[in-house]
Amino acid sequence: MVILGIETSCDETSAAVVEETGDAGRPWTLRSNVIASQVAIHREWGGVVPELASRQHIRDICGVVERALSDAAVGWSDLGAIAVTQGPGLVGSLLVGVAFAKAAAAATGLPLVPVHHLVGHIESLVLQNGELPLPAVVLVVSGGHTSLYLVARPGHYDLLSRTRDDAAGEAYDKVAKLLGLGYPGGPIVDRLARTGDDRAVRLPVTRLTHADRNAPELKGDLDFSFSGLKTAVLRYVRGRDTDGTSAPLSEREVADVCASFQRVVVTTLIDRLFDASRRFNAKSVGIAGGVSANSRLRAELEAQGLRREIPTFLPGLSLSTDNAAMIAAAGLRRFRAGITAPDNLNADPSLPLQVG
Ligand code: KG4
Ligand code: ZN
Repeated sequence: MVILGIETSCDETSAAVVEETGDAGRPWTLRSNVIASQVAIHREWGGVVPELASRQHIRDICGVVERALSDAAVGWSDLGAIAVTQGPGLVGSLLVGVAFAKAAAAATGLPLVPVHHLVGHIESLVLQNGELPLPAVVLVVSGGHTSLYLVARPGHYDLLSRTRDDAAGEAYDKVAKLLGLGYPGGPIVDRLARTGDDRAVRLPVTRLTHADRNAPELKGDLDFSFSGLKTAVLRYVRGRDTDGTSAPLSEREVADVCASFQRVVVTTLIDRLFDASRRFNAKSVGIAGGVSANSRLRAELEAQGLRREIPTFLPGLSLSTDNAAMIAAAGLRRFRAGITAPDNLNADPSLPLQVG
C-alpha cells in the first residue's frame, strides 16, 4: 500500500509518499518527500508569524502535494490512504493541512488517518532505520517539545518526562536572537559552536529532583528545564557590557557562548536519555525532532551508545526537521491498527498524545 502524508503544523508545507514494503523489520520505504520552507518569510520577523504561516500554507499546499505525487510517480488512484497532522501546532497552519486532506479524501473516497505530530517524529526513526529493538527510549526534541517517551510495543508511546518550561529548540532560537544571530537559531548556533571553546563560559546545568505538581504521575527527575540556562546566557551577555558601551561581542566570544551553551544542552539531553534507558531497561535509544539535526548531539549519542553498548538511532537530516514523510509513516502504522478519522475531523492545536 502507498500512502500520502501531509504536514502543515508550523512553518513548513510538506507532502510525502511512503510505501509499505511487506518486510516487518523495515516496514516502510520513502517514495517522495517535498518540503516548502517558509524560513525566508519568518526570518524577517525573527520567528514564526502564525498568520503569515497559514496564508503561505494555502498558497503552497496544492503544488507541494502534486509534486510529491509526481516525484513518487503515483497518481491519486494508486494511493490507499491519506495521513495528515491533526496537532499539536499552530491552529491556522494545521487547519490548512486538515482541510486539504479532508477535501482530498472526500473527493477520492480514500480513508483519512489523523496523526499526532510527535508520533510522526518518533516514527521517523523507524522510517529511517527499520523497527527499533524494544523497549526503546526516544527523546523528541524540537522547537516546541522536549520529551522522553518509552516505546514498549510498536505504536505505543508512554510519556516519561518533558520540559517544564522552554523546549531545547526554543532555547537555541532565543539564545541566537539575543546574540544577534539569524533565525532559526539552532543551525547557526550549532555551526558557530564548532569554532568556540565550550568551557569558556560557565553556565548552570539544571537538574529537577522534585515531582511536577502539575503532573504528579510523572516522577519529575527525568524532566528538562532550559529557561534558566537561557537567562544565564542573557546575564552573561549583558554582564560583559560593564562600560555600558553595548559593544557587540567579538566573533570569538560569540562562538564561545554558542559552544558553552551547546555543551550544556547536549549534556543535559544525553544524560537524561541514558538515565531513562537504564531505568527502563531499554534495548535501544533514539533522538528525533528538529534538534536531532544538531551535530554535537548526533556525535554524543553515537559515542555514548558505543560506550554503554546500547544501539542508538537517529533520523537522516531531511527527516529530522518537520516533514510529511514521518506523518505518512506514522499514518501507515495507525491505518494498519484500524484507526481512521471521522468525517468531521478537526485540527487540534493542543492534541494530547494518547498513552497506549
Ligand atoms: O521539529 P522542528 O522542525 O519543528 C518543531 O516541531 O518545532 O524543529 C525546529 C527546531 C528549531 O527550534 C530549530 O532551531 C531546531 O529545531 N534546530 C536545531 C538544529 N536544526 C534545527 N537546533 C540545534 N541544532 C541544529 N542543527
Ligand atoms: Zn516538529
